[in-house]
Amino acid sequence: MKAILLSRHGGPGVLRVTEIPTPDPGPGEVRVKVEAVGLNYAEVLSRKGLYGWAPRLPYVPGMEAVGRIDRVGEGVDPARVGEAVVVGAQHGAYAEWVVARSAQALPAPRAGSGEAFTMEENAAFTVNWMTAWVGLMEMGRLRPTDRVLVSPAGGGVGTAAVAIAAAFGCEVVALAGSDAKLDRVRGLGASRTVNYRRPGWREALAAEVGPRGVDVALEMVGGGVFQGVKSVLAPFGRVVVAGYAELDYTLWNPFSWWRAWRGTPRMGLTEMFKGSNGILSTHLGYLLRDPERVAGVWGELTAFVRTHGLRPAVGHVLPFEEMADAHRLMESRESYGKIVLRMPEAGA
Ligand SMILES: NC(=O)c1ccc[n+]([C@@H]2O[C@H](COP(=O)([O-])OP(=O)(O)OC[C@H]3O[C@@H](n4cnc5c(N)ncnc54)[C@H](OP(=O)(O)O)[C@@H]3O)[C@@H](O)[C@H]2O)c1
Repeated sequence: MKAILLSRHGGPGVLRVTEIPTPDPGPGEVRVKVEAVGLNYAEVLSRKGLYGWAPRLPYVPGMEAVGRIDRVGEGVDPARVGEAVVVGAQHGAYAEWVVARSAQALPAPRAGSGEAFTMEENAAFTVNWMTAWVGLMEMGRLRPTDRVLVSPAGGGVGTAAVAIAAAFGCEVVALAGSDAKLDRVRGLGASRTVNYRRPGWREALAAEVGPRGVDVALEMVGGGVFQGVKSVLAPFGRVVVAGYAELDYTLWNPFSWWRAWRGTPRMGLTEMFKGSNGILSTHLGYLLRDPERVAGVWGELTAFVRTHGLRPAVGHVLPFEEMADAHRLMESRESYGKIVLRMPEAGA
């Protein structure tokens, strides 16, 4: 089958389509014929060798795919063959076929009125929406009266978080690195916006939120953005750290290690005590290890999405062969919402 096998770390050019053996499902597993792949920022970090959850080289990257089950392993109901599913995994999705535990192949979600999401919307859903849901609901313990901050708000996880928090009834403050992205997230329900790449943005944020501050922040940039977000937490407020997009270092440059260390989100107990607030962190990898918990989160999230008529924001669709360009686009910070890669023979 065609797949992208990562055999060395580096720039987007290391992502080349090659031929590898087509996998067969083992006991308790299903095999999915992939129709589309959703791109995640963690895959940019893995490609550079900066992602702690990545396996040893060589491996096929890719954390989410959508398609149909075409073969099942021992112990899996053969009636699942033909089912349209979404797969969330640690790696393996940059390929024509992906093998996953049966419980990891979740039924493709449905939109508000019951009609199916498009293939691209399915590819934009699993990782981003589960991350946003767990960050806001399970960790942030959101209440409709809370004021919520999301940064960066214009990406895959960010657009999901803005839509979820707004639908839940919260006032949403969106942070992003471009005015164009901020205009678009207003359409998802953000009522206050700040561009953190403009000089004086911290003052602009303080003016925007006033003395009331924010109750829950979902923060995924790190560095100076995390510092600015932390400074506007209200008493009893909490910041949920789900990522560190600014993370960048190279082995041969000790200054870059120091910069990466300095930019790592952190909050000391004395600081928390002074502000009566706190810091939490979440990683979807822990959820994916626990099928029962995944089923619970999935049930609540998909019901919420149907009730509120929400749909993922698909910003860009590229052919699978252009994976290197997709990575370049994500790193350029020019992307909005989700970047989706379509397999050549995928239907409408
Ligand atoms: N904890 C988890 O389980 C989990 C799961 C999924 C994703 N994440 C994290 O959530 C964050 C968003 O992931 P995503 O897949 O939805 O990506 P994304 O938001 O679609 O794309 C990344 C965005 O990060 C912003 N950014 C800030 N500093 C950057 C930098 N130095 N280089 C490149 N981009 C930078 C850019 O937005 P602006 O131009 O607006 O700054 C860029 O568009 C990432 O940090 C990711 O690692 C965590």
